[in-house]
Amino acid sequence: MADLLLGQVLSFTGNPFHAGPGAALHLTHGGVLIDQGRIVAVGDGRDLRAAHPQAVVADYGRALISAGFIDAHVHYPQTAIIASWGKRLIDWLNSYTFPEEMRFADPAYAAEIADRYLDLALAHGTTSMCSYATIHPASVDAFFAAARARGLRAWAGKTCMDRNAPDGLRDTAQSAYDNSKRLLQHWHGVDRLSYVITPRFSPTSTPEQLAALGALWGEYPDCLMQTHLSEQTDEIAWVKDLFPQSRDYLDTYEAQGLLRAGAVYGHAIHLTPREKDRLHEAGASLVHCPTSNTFIGSGLFDSTLARTLRTGLATDTGGGSSFSMLRTMAAAYEVAQLRGEALHPSQLWWLATVGSARALHAETRIGNIAPGLEADLVIVDLASTPAIDQATRRAEDIWQALFPTIMLGDDRAITAVWIGGRLHMAAATDRA
Ligand code: GUN
Ligand code: ZN
Repeated sequence: MADLLLGQVLSFTGNPFHAGPGAALHLTHGGVLIDQGRIVAVGDGRDLRAAHPQAVVADYGRALISAGFIDAHVHYPQTAIIASWGKRLIDWLNSYTFPEEMRFADPAYAAEIADRYLDLALAHGTTSMCSYATIHPASVDAFFAAARARGLRAWAGKTCMDRNAPDGLRDTAQSAYDNSKRLLQHWHGVDRLSYVITPRFSPTSTPEQLAALGALWGEYPDCLMQTHLSEQTDEIAWVKDLFPQSRDYLDTYEAQGLLRAGAVYGHAIHLTPREKDRLHEAGASLVHCPTSNTFIGSGLFDSTLARTLRTGLATDTGGGSSFSMLRTMAAAYEVAQLRGEALHPSQLWWLATVGSARALHAETRIGNIAPGLEADLVIVDLASTPAIDQATRRAEDIWQALFPTIMLGDDRAITAVWIGGRLHMAAATDRA
């Protein structure tokens, strides 16, 4: 049985980084018809209703129907340490992250946090995500099992580290290869799940481990590979010490077969001209993590890179300070302002949906509202608090109506999410 969702509908017909706000389609009284997990038609609500009288109608009134948000870089195991005070990257990893990730040796704890993270993500309108797990293979199993139970399109991989991490959080080049391969063979392509080859970052991998994972990627070229790149200046100096032969940070990956289309680099703030050139030539993806970059004090991402590189948006939970992609868009706006550029609401919304889908090479499946795409949708209340409501009253177009929700909105703005064509029933504890 088909479902017909009625409301304001926002979709993209092009890239607003090239074409401006005209790259979006807004229907004030729109409709989205979905059947068997996919979007079948988009158009005027009354016309769709007349043409499909059998469809079950969900009328969301003035609320906005959008593609669900896609969080292109998260660490689900860091859910419980979000908002930990006072450290910069390397100290933050050693003080908060590694002790917490150690707890994932217990599969029951991994399962508990996977459920908690996914319930929080969905309550914030995030319908897809690309996550790091921990070193423990069972932490990948826990995440994928929880994502599968919710019908999500999700990506994840075992984080690999064979140096500069505490006992209990290190593997080896060989075990990283073996366990990643086993997990990949088990999970990749199951339902809506995809395995991602995941070296944490160059400081915690020997060249041998990076090479082993590069070899694995060569065997499974349709997989993505995710890692961190040039997040903080201290980290970059450390990479220079650890890899004296390398031309720059990117070269530590490039030299081991970890640079090509399908590579997804988180942060990528302090790039050299050579690195930018090579990222373009290779067709690599970048992920902007603005709340993390301000919270950990990393720096200001150059969002003009989104004009020419596949660029997604992400919370970087728990280095990031919010589970909300609305808050993340607000931070992207603020970071760009500090660089002298005002990102348009269409660009912010595009980054959180189509941009992230493109960064993950999934734009033919998710991230937009168009016939044939998977029906992952978020329903957004554009007057979810008194402060937002009063700020939208004078809005003359959809962008003026949307921007207060981008800047002031949170999970209270999320009326509903549809996952693979089904209305998601939130766990009773979601908003506890
Ligand atoms: N670099 C290496 N690991 C991490 C991590 O867990 N979070 C962030 N923000 N940066 C990293
Ligand atoms: Zn990260």
